[in-house]
Amino acid sequence: MTQTKTALVTGGAGFIGSNFVHSFLAASPDYQVVVLDKLTYAGNERNLDPVRDDPRFRFIQGDICDRATVDRAMEGCQWVLNFAAETHVDRSIVDPGSFVRTDVEGTYTLLEAARAQGVERFIQISTDEVYGNAEAPDGTSRPSLETDALKPLSPYAASKAGADRLAFSYWATYGLPVVVTRCSNNYGPYQYPEKQLPLFIVNALHDRPLPVYGQGTNTRDWIHVLDHCSALETILTAPGELVHGEVYNIGSNDERSILENARAILDILDKPGELIRFVPDRLGHVRRHAVDATKLRERLGWQPQHRFETGLAETVEWYRTHSDWVDYVLQRQDSFLSNALALAEK
Ligand SMILES: NC(=O)c1ccc[n+]([C@@H]2O[C@H](COP(=O)([O-])OP(=O)(O)OC[C@H]3O[C@@H](n4cnc5c(N)ncnc54)[C@H](O)[C@@H]3O)[C@@H](O)[C@H]2O)c1
Repeated sequence: MTQTKTALVTGGAGFIGSNFVHSFLAASPDYQVVVLDKLTYAGNERNLDPVRDDPRFRFIQGDICDRATVDRAMEGCQWVLNFAAETHVDRSIVDPGSFVRTDVEGTYTLLEAARAQGVERFIQISTDEVYGNAEAPDGTSRPSLETDALKPLSPYAASKAGADRLAFSYWATYGLPVVVTRCSNNYGPYQYPEKQLPLFIVNALHDRPLPVYGQGTNTRDWIHVLDHCSALETILTAPGELVHGEVYNIGSNDERSILENARAILDILDKPGELIRFVPDRLGHVRRHAVDATKLRERLGWQPQHRFETGLAETVEWYRTHSDWVDYVLQRQDSFLSNALALAEK
């Protein structure tokens, strides 16, 4: 007989969290979800419209740093997936404190509550940013392995590295069934347009310049958000002995430079290359992020399903046909976002 499982999804109104909620509820009629989200500038209740009327879905607005709220949200949940975080590198350079609070203290609060309630699995959604530049110990450039040293370069990456190791310590010290995942850069629908790909797409759709940092040569390893979600579902349902106390990289081995991405988006929309504008480089900009996901593929049999070329074209089409979503986000008067969108015009 199948058993109902309830997952607490923190940060479920954000980009990856909302995609996860959609695919998770579609995966089995026996799954239920509680979303706990503070609805910061990056959270958007509209991202959850596709599941709002599903009786298996519940939404709680609240802060992961608030223990009483966390306890209430976690009650009756067997699984916890911690997506909630401050996530934008550029903002962390301006306001590191909010990153330490949410990413480290918030994770601590969730871990304490999970320990008290005795959950069956706690997935800490970490990031490949914790590695810093993807390289071997001798400095040779190569995709990061789970065993590589953590050398975060931005306050965002450092706060995520703190949360990553704190989560692991709850496995090592208390035996809390923790799994840490480190995924590469995600793209897909519902991503707040301060991040590279939706920023380029939104600007290109409006015939505005695409701001490319430095020479545009820095590279990232891109994965479709639904492939990230399927990897998390695989990890969530794998036997405990294969995942508890483990770190799994998640990536689909698709590296692109910023400049290649800008050109690809202009090509898809049939816009002129003159829209590309080079702007001063980001402070502490990581040259290369890429992960080796062999462990996940070989141990758990996971495979990505999306190729970047088609996934990017579908993502561009999603933003083109969801102008109401884009307009809603743009109307929120977020000065950081307005500045990012206008960066190339300065
Ligand atoms: N976007 C990527 O490419 C990527 C890659 C690897 C890992 N990650 C990790 O995945 C997770 C989700 O990333 P995303 O891109 O969807 O982020 P996002 O910024 O789109 O969403 C973050 C969500 O967390 C919520 N939140 C923020 N502070 C909170 C708090 N104190 N309490 C409760 N909710 C709070 C926000 O309202 C928002 O809904 C993050 O932990 C991030 O570090 C992201």
